[in-house]
Amino acid sequence: MFSELKVLQTILVLFFTLSLSTNHSNGKLVLEGSASFDTSGFTLLTNTTKHSYGRVLNQESLYWKNDNFSFDFLFGIVPEHKHSGSQGMALFFSPTRNLPVASSEYLGLFNATNNGKTSNNLLAIELDIQKDEEFGDIDDNHVGININGMRSVLSASAGYYDDEDGSFKNLSLISGKVMRLSLVYSFLHKQLNVTLSPAEFSVPPLKPLLSLNRDLSSYILEDMYYGFTASTGSIGAIHYMLGVFTTNDPENPLWEFNSVPILPPYPKKSYDKAKIVLAVCLTLSVIAAFVASWIGFVFYLRHKKVKEVIEEWEIEYAPHRFAYKELFNATKGFKEKKLLGSGGFGQVYRGTLSGSDAEIAVKRTSHGSSQGKREFLAEISTIGRLRHPNIVRLLGYCRHKDDLFLVYDFMPNGSLDKYLNGSDTNENQERLSWDQRFKIIRDVASALFYLHQEWVQVIIHRDIKPANVLLDHEMNARLGDFGLAKMYDQGFDPQTTKLAGTFGYIAPEFLRTGRATTNTDVYAFGLVMLEVVCGRRLIERSEAKNEEVLVDWILELWVEGKNFNAAEESIRQEHNRGEIELVLKLGVLCSHQAESIRPDMSAVMRILNGVLQLPDNLLDVVLAERLRGRPEISMEVLLDVNSISTLSFTHSFMSHGR
Ligand SMILES: *[C@@H]1O[C@H](CO)[C@@H](O)[C@H](O)[C@H]1NC(C)=O
Ligand SMILES: *[C@@H]1O[C@H](CO)[C@@H](O)[C@H](O)[C@H]1NC(C)=O
Ligand SMILES: *[C@@H]1O[C@H](CO)[C@@H](O)[C@H](O)[C@H]1NC(C)=O
Ligand SMILES: *[C@@H]1O[C@H](CO)[C@@H](O)[C@H](O)[C@H]1NC(C)=O
Ligand SMILES: *[C@@H]1O[C@H](CO)[C@@H](O)[C@H](O)[C@H]1NC(C)=O
Repeated sequence: MFSELKVLQTILVLFFTLSLSTNHSNGKLVLEGSASFDTSGFTLLTNTTKHSYGRVLNQESLYWKNDNFSFDFLFGIVPEHKHSGSQGMALFFSPTRNLPVASSEYLGLFNATNNGKTSNNLLAIELDIQKDEEFGDIDDNHVGININGMRSVLSASAGYYDDEDGSFKNLSLISGKVMRLSLVYSFLHKQLNVTLSPAEFSVPPLKPLLSLNRDLSSYILEDMYYGFTASTGSIGAIHYMLGVFTTNDPENPLWEFNSVPILPPYPKKSYDKAKIVLAVCLTLSVIAAFVASWIGFVFYLRHKKVKEVIEEWEIEYAPHRFAYKELFNATKGFKEKKLLGSGGFGQVYRGTLSGSDAEIAVKRTSHGSSQGKREFLAEISTIGRLRHPNIVRLLGYCRHKDDLFLVYDFMPNGSLDKYLNGSDTNENQERLSWDQRFKIIRDVASALFYLHQEWVQVIIHRDIKPANVLLDHEMNARLGDFGLAKMYDQGFDPQTTKLAGTFGYIAPEFLRTGRATTNTDVYAFGLVMLEVVCGRRLIERSEAKNEEVLVDWILELWVEGKNFNAAEESIRQEHNRGEIELVLKLGVLCSHQAESIRPDMSAVMRILNGVLQLPDNLLDVVLAERLRGRPEISMEVLLDVNSISTLSFTHSFMSHGR
């Protein structure tokens, strides 16, 4: 298949486990996170653990004179799921060996705080197998050059240019085959070339995949560390780092190696072998005859049951499509036992994708007309592209007869409402600490800010409530259930649509006009904040008359200067007082009847992060508006002495503009 010239004769591979090259490094490696060596001497950057990252760094810095710089490495990615990658991997160069704590969403290189900061001083070549709109990714199979952040300065779909006819040949990063990434940097021309090729090629293709003209001398230092990193999301992948070699001295290969290694398949779940053998033997000997006759019949039934019908209009959404059979098997045929919950919108099942242990939540809904489905799918494809650490990821969908299935990441810690209502059946449910609660509030705020203001379209969630805030394995909050979300192109006035939402969380102006806006989301979010602090429901009949309605009660306490007492007792500690009072006040402000005095999500974020302060006379404003019930107000900017700006009730801060 490959041109003869290129067919491998010898590849000089200096196994990473051994050494780089005598004058460059002594080869000692530092493993971090999930990185490990396997029995074949390969370096695994990730194992089967989900949401993890692994890094390998050389312990001693690489010494490189201001000379042309070249660097090659062999890698391979074996995914758990044939069509769906994990997060990807990267080769990086760093002036320091002590990289900060990173996040698996940021390839194990960065975290939400330092992503994009010039202080990282990091050059990386990413092999990205997930399309993150947030980082401007072009597709889910690309190579990118990244400087200090996840947004590539240059990227291209994985592949190479054939030396003979110059045509572009695609390569799939998750093919499980060993591939080679080559870097050449010329100090003289200030040019970095990056080439990807099958490992069988002994020399990289002439025409690079990426060529960046930029002075990188501040990243490629005389003394620097290099390393590899990879991370997994909800779908696993084993990322292999097979060897590093430098092409500047082809005359002196230190190791020779005649064939490209074949990577082992993704490990299947391990079972107790003896048990399986026993079970199989018994089954076979006793019911072999029955099996033979049944197989044909069952197969026929099954085939009929899970048969796929793909309509033409669906082709566009194909990348997100799951086969019904996959979901059927994942949920053991939508068994009762797998039911996580059900509601007005349908049922949610827990499942495990076959051949892997990727856990998913499958939501089943019924939709009437084909037209409705089409609109629904258009929405899905947009929501499927949302990528944010605080949003439950939609993995895809499946349509089967009149049912639509939405496939999400499974959130092991369930929904927030289960943690809030003390008097409920969940007595033994662990109470959340204040730090956990404050983090959850900020997580939800950041998700809403993303939906309202950071994403290319304005997305209104329309059903913000604790039941739609899900908690992942680390108790990070993620906003889920976009079943009611509607998208609007930015700048368009939202159209009137049918009433939807959850009683108690619906803003008054929405009831009046039937029009959802970002302000109606802010209203519901304000109430969620109050619930989280107080650990009770919005309306609690069992309480004393004046305490029945949460917002009214909090306001009453505030007037008396005792709003701290509204917080749930278990979190009421003096050192939390400042934060608790802040959230209570902000919650009241956000859930105010007068739409115009609610801050928008960027203001909410700034208040929660302490960059913007609530004005001293907030209570007066809140009360005045409540009495007048008139939504127009304008106040002067009140600047704080600390030069931290203060939220002001002028229209520029309000959410009208969007
Ligand atoms: C995978 O790596 C994690 C560290 O991220 C470790 O705790 C776990 O034991 C590893 N699993 C296996 C199967 O090696
Ligand atoms: C570095 O590479 C460039 C082109 O790739 C070449 O023109 C130049 O002579 C090389 N310099 C050295 C010192 O090898
Ligand atoms: C992110 O990295 C910075 C260092 O660059 C560190 O100070 C911070 O604690 C990290 N944030 C998280 C959430 O781990
Ligand atoms: C290469 O990939 C692109 C985008 O994924 C696709 O449009 C094109 O048809 C592929 N070409 C070949 C030869 O497979
Ligand atoms: C990068 O590739 C271009 C095009 O093949 C080539 O002309 C140039 O010399 C290469 N630069 C380096 C630094 O190798």
